[in-house]
Amino acid sequence: MRTLVVDHPLVAHKLTVLRDVRTPSLVFRKLTEELVTLLAYEATRDVKTVPVEIETPVTRTVGTAFAKPTPLVVPILRAGLGMLEGMIRLVPTAEVGFLGMARNEETLDIITYAERLPEDLTGRQVFVLDPMLATGGTLKEAVRFLLKRGAESVTCLCLLAAPEGLKVLEDELDGLPVSLVLASIDERLNEKSYIVPGLGDAGDRLYGVAG
Ligand code: URA
Repeated sequence: MRTLVVDHPLVAHKLTVLRDVRTPSLVFRKLTEELVTLLAYEATRDVKTVPVEIETPVTRTVGTAFAKPTPLVVPILRAGLGMLEGMIRLVPTAEVGFLGMARNEETLDIITYAERLPEDLTGRQVFVLDPMLATGGTLKEAVRFLLKRGAESVTCLCLLAAPEGLKVLEDELDGLPVSLVLASIDERLNEKSYIVPGLGDAGDRLYGVAG
């Protein structure tokens, strides 16, 4: 599995403000979008393209366009939704599908409670959005689900990852066409499976705590 941590002062600065407990939801949402756009630039480096002939005001020339089928962007509900705008700003012709996954707190199994995706993903380059790679359980299941549907490759964009979750993905998705693009690898998970130092509950910070 290819893992890239985007090491750039703009990413580091925006991430620092995002982590700050005093940052309000409105700013948090805007910074998340900006960070995702920066990650998307790296995550789309291997997107498939075809040559296209165009005419400039001066001459005919050959340029570059996305190949068909177009990339598919899949935010994992709920927190991944906060990353969608930042991604499609850079890839406006991408198709968007949705996956809702949650952990059954008794059995610890991951259940898929919502799914709106093309049935056949053959040949699709898929970009999964999930801000926090904590235990790795949800992301592992999401990637497997997409590959089973025929996805050619899956690139996951996360803001933060814990080493524990990274190891789960490395062990369980070894040899599969999966890449990870991250803004930071943090220290560890705490006893509640929150990333440390982290940024708290990404969904709550994006949307406020539903009562
Ligand atoms: N999900 C979050 O929103 N935050 C964490 O720290 C871990 C998982």
